[in-house]
Amino acid sequence: LRRIPLFRDFSDEQLSQVLATVAERRFPKHQFIVREGEPGDTFFVIAAGSVAVVRVAADGRETILSILKEGDFFGEMSMFDSSLRSASIKTLTDVEVGAVRRDDFLGLIDRNPQIGKLLVIELSERLRAANALIAATTSQDIRARLASLLLNLAEQFGESVDNGTRITLRLTNQEMANMIGTTRETVNRTLNRFWDDRLVDMRTAHVIVTEPEKLRALIP
Ligand code: CMP
Repeated sequence: LRRIPLFRDFSDEQLSQVLATVAERRFPKHQFIVREGEPGDTFFVIAAGSVAVVRVAADGRETILSILKEGDFFGEMSMFDSSLRSASIKTLTDVEVGAVRRDDFLGLIDRNPQIGKLLVIELSERLRAANALIAATTSQDIRARLASLLLNLAEQFGESVDNGTRITLRLTNQEMANMIGTTRETVNRTLNRFWDDRLVDMRTAHVIVTEPEKLRALIP
């Protein structure tokens, strides 16, 4: 639990109180943990693995709003506003979560106001990211959108290697397309162009960002 930023400053006693309310659950890759539109009574922290926050349109097309990983949380929105789930959560890898029921979650915040503060900070960051996504989506330039996505992934899932930053999370071209509102073919073509221009290294299954400054320069 101490690896989860929300509980970083907790004492042993506080942690054991939290532990008493957390149920451990495991989900295999590519499974829904939460479905948009359903009533929600559970808050989740990710102990291992990564998930995508997705909205599915009436025609079945998926938009990936965000990717969350170990240490992140989800499901807090319907805890706070008692509305239906605002998005679906789909596993990208095998995932282990800690699940906390609404009453326990709200009680936890009442007893530990510092958690409320950390939640607000994180929600502010998510709103910033959502604003950036809205701004990027109105730009027609697919190169800019893909460059921005690769830089974000390198920041969230980056690992230093000889020639740059390797993105440790493997996403399919379709998943990347769903994150920037385009098609799999366009992602494929644009990535190959980045590789031709040596902005990225595509020789292995994991994309390596080799020229972050040049990618950044593509973003208006
Ligand atoms: P909730 O609405 O209960 O269930 C879906 C969850 O997805 C939501 O809580 C948030 O935890 C998460 N979520 C929704 N929108 C975003 C977003 N734009 N960025 C990151 N996480 C989100």
